[in-house]
Amino acid sequence: MIHLSSHPVAAIDLFCGVGGLSYGLEAAGVNILAGADIDPSCRYPFEANITGARFLERDARLLAPEELAEIWPQDSLRLLAGCAPCQPFSPYQRGRGTPSDSRWSLLREFGRLVRATEPELVTTENVPRLMGTSVFGAFLELLRELDYSIAYRTCNCADYGLPQKRRRLVLIASRLGPIDIPEGYLSGLQPKTVGDAIRRMPPIASGEVNATDPLHRSRTLQDINRQRIQASAPGGSWRDWPEELRVPCHRRASGRRFRNVYARMSWDEPAPTLTTYFYNFGAGRFGHPEQDRAISIREGAILQGFPAEYDFVESGSPISFTTLGRLIGNAVPPPLGAAIGQTIIHHIRNVRLGT
Ligand SMILES: C[S@@+](CC[C@H](N)C(=O)[O-])C[C@H]1O[C@@H](n2cnc3c(N)ncnc32)[C@H](O)[C@@H]1O
Repeated sequence: MIHLSSHPVAAIDLFCGVGGLSYGLEAAGVNILAGADIDPSCRYPFEANITGARFLERDARLLAPEELAEIWPQDSLRLLAGCAPCQPFSPYQRGRGTPSDSRWSLLREFGRLVRATEPELVTTENVPRLMGTSVFGAFLELLRELDYSIAYRTCNCADYGLPQKRRRLVLIASRLGPIDIPEGYLSGLQPKTVGDAIRRMPPIASGEVNATDPLHRSRTLQDINRQRIQASAPGGSWRDWPEELRVPCHRRASGRRFRNVYARMSWDEPAPTLTTYFYNFGAGRFGHPEQDRAISIREGAILQGFPAEYDFVESGSPISFTTLGRLIGNAVPPPLGAAIGQTIIHHIRNVRLGT
């Protein structure tokens, strides 16, 4: 009998982004060897925060399995992690997730690399709607064909300590034995709140940048939006505003669809699901609970589960709301990554390879 716990888990993270998943996996004890992403702006944050890992600027569609095989050491338990872009499946992209969208194919590309390298462990994360798609069905079929044990379920990230309402599909597959994804430690208990996460942040005005943290900056509000947020209560929305401040479509419609735009967060609740536009007051419930501004980039990163010191931009480089909004809004929350890592470490501690 070989006790698998003596072998380190060595991971390659496809679609690694700024490293949210890798950071969480590493915190759980997984050794991250490399991350690959098509977006060059991921290089700095990935390499700056994931100790010893290298960044491969690659289109996953062109990635050769031999390249991955060379990165994994001989004596490791290989983990292939890959969170393909979720936009084609996201409820925030209604009507845009069609099979003609080339990104639908990226989970298949991940499957292609799983088939070619057959790592002992595989994990992926995406929006829950992926579950009902043929792409996901085909991915499960591939894993079964390759004799993986598979666990997948929708996880509420708040149950894993994220101060945000965020539901994600998590899949872990293993060739070592049966695997299970346990509920989070906060399941059924009081989740972490916006207040727990960002109340300590120094106050800033709309359009201002904090002197010590250049990412603690909020987008400048137009006058009309400044008046609107001033008229909003914590946890409130445009319904608090006088008629003249309302957006025409809110005036016309019942407004039900728009309940969560132009709204302030509440100190006492988890944040709403962050999108790639979390820095924009008009794009969701992204108003600060009491300051008259949208949340800052840093506050968004903290609400997405990154530590306050996570390094996203090289010193002296320009800081773009659009780029950082995309990178942070698309990230796997590190606490979810850590839960996935803990599940994997627990799994290999408990599974023995029969001879
Ligand atoms: C959901 S995000 C991944 C988030 C990342 N796992 C994290 O935890 O921060 C998807 C990533 O896929 C990348 N991507 C999109 N198309 C790609 C392609 N063809 N090849 C490689 N990466 C791609 C995007 O740049 C984006 O960073």
